[in-house]
Amino acid sequence: IDPTLDLVEEINKLKKEKNAVLLAHYYQDSEIQDIADYIGDSLGLSQEAAKTDADVIVFAGVHFMAETAKILSPEKKVLLPDLKAGCSLSDSCPPHLFAKFKDRYPDHIVITYVNCTAELKALSDIVCTSSNAVQIVESLPPDQQIIFGPDKNLGDYVKRKTGRDLVLWNGACMVHELFSQERIQQLRERYPQAKFIAHPECEKELLDGADYIGSTSGLLKYTKENTADTFIVATESGIIHQMQKASPGKTFIPAPPNNACACNDCPYMKLNTLEKLYNCMKFELPEVDLPADVIARAKRPIERMLEISE
Ligand code: 13P
Ligand code: SF4
Repeated sequence: IDPTLDLVEEINKLKKEKNAVLLAHYYQDSEIQDIADYIGDSLGLSQEAAKTDADVIVFAGVHFMAETAKILSPEKKVLLPDLKAGCSLSDSCPPHLFAKFKDRYPDHIVITYVNCTAELKALSDIVCTSSNAVQIVESLPPDQQIIFGPDKNLGDYVKRKTGRDLVLWNGACMVHELFSQERIQQLRERYPQAKFIAHPECEKELLDGADYIGSTSGLLKYTKENTADTFIVATESGIIHQMQKASPGKTFIPAPPNNACACNDCPYMKLNTLEKLYNCMKFELPEVDLPADVIARAKRPIERMLEISE
């Protein structure tokens, strides 16, 4: 790339030229969030992908998010700046093993967290995100048996919130399992007035001590509305950009991970850069596409989620 190019200007030009919409997840680098047409959590992003009238959807996020956009808008071209932007949670649930697991519970309905492959969604009855998982479980009759996957931490949280007995797949997100309870406790002692807020992909022991638990957009809303001036934030650090923008006078402290060498960045989300975004829009590559039969089978479970979340 020509180093004299103003990438932000070029990307904005390409958006207009190609009638492209740029969707970004809260975990993207702040410079990507700042040029996005829509920034949101997984639910907001899929609602946006379903209703856009753009010809091209550029997804600044990870692979399963781009797949979901393709399933909801199969006639559109869906681009992802780096095809290696995967997800450890999605990887923790290979569809062929999940199919065998599911066979052991023939009377159960399958709810899958959106952080999974299109193939896994195609094996499900309803998809959910962290902002509607409780609502979706509660929309089913009380005697309905349920398999929930792939995130065991979110599943366990939903079990506690609903009092329902879900059969859980044993998957997890590498970023949300890294937080150190001990170091968070030290921070809380240092900032006794701070609120500790966490994403439900974190482990139970951590969630038990949280003042608020929610999806990325839930956490953001909480920090806007709560009168506290300091927040310790247990999720990927990208969300702090929007928190800081919305509440410039407040202080946001990323919850510390248990290894001093680690950080709260998702290594997959952070693969996307302005340079890759520019190239991907210019050359319309890499494109995320799916076989027609997978799109057909995965669409209904996602649409059921969108209907319940309206
Ligand atoms: P939400 O933005 O839906 O809370 O999801 C968090 C996440 O881990 C996305 O990868
Ligand atoms: Fe996957 Fe976790 Fe990264 Fe989200 S933060 S994309 S769940 S690895």
